[in-house]
Amino acid sequence: MMSTVYPGSVRDAMEHWPTGIAVITTADQSGWWWGCTADSFAAVSMRPPLVSVCLDREHECRPVFAAADSFAVHVLREGQEDLANRFACRDADFTDLAVERGYDDVPLLCDVAVRLECRTTSVVPAGDHVMLLAEVVRVRTGPGDPLVYLQRHFRHLSRYDRFAA
Ligand SMILES: Cc1cc2nc3c(=O)[nH]c(=O)nc-3n(C[C@H](O)[C@H](O)[C@H](O)COP(=O)(O)O)c2cc1C
Repeated sequence: MMSTVYPGSVRDAMEHWPTGIAVITTADQSGWWWGCTADSFAAVSMRPPLVSVCLDREHECRPVFAAADSFAVHVLREGQEDLANRFACRDADFTDLAVERGYDDVPLLCDVAVRLECRTTSVVPAGDHVMLLAEVVRVRTGPGDPLVYLQRHFRHLSRYDRFAA
């Protein structure tokens, strides 16, 4: 049965769900580098270590990521709003960014909160998106609090109180 829920109301509801911000990167068959800002990144499984990212079918980068064997996920830290905005634009490029080559020659951004190098295990159709499911092959964590996205704004956790667990 088709849902009768108005899609805009789901989008509005999800604005109340705080997320981190990731930039995913890959290289296409000609070696051209691609990047996209995504807050749909999620942990899926620990054994084996699987993560997912959902990409809009309309994005120019979607076929590239769907065809790639590997990609990297960069969890941004506070102060990296410029990187989030840069890779949320069509034709984003890597000009002036420090880039290393990672697993499978995927471009890696330096100096982020967390970096995960991933090998795609499946590409799952999911409505107007596709879900990339991938195994994590390398992880690196750096200093700093992650950048948070909530109600269409970037937030800094360090501005809020910390509570002991
Ligand atoms: C905070 C934020 C989070 C985003 N998260 C996603 C996401 O999870 N999936 C997605 O497909 N697009 C997401 N976008 C939109 C894309 O980053 C943007 O539309 C894309 O880079 C355009 O790519 P294209 O040039 O390949 O069409 C997000 C944008 C912002 C600002």
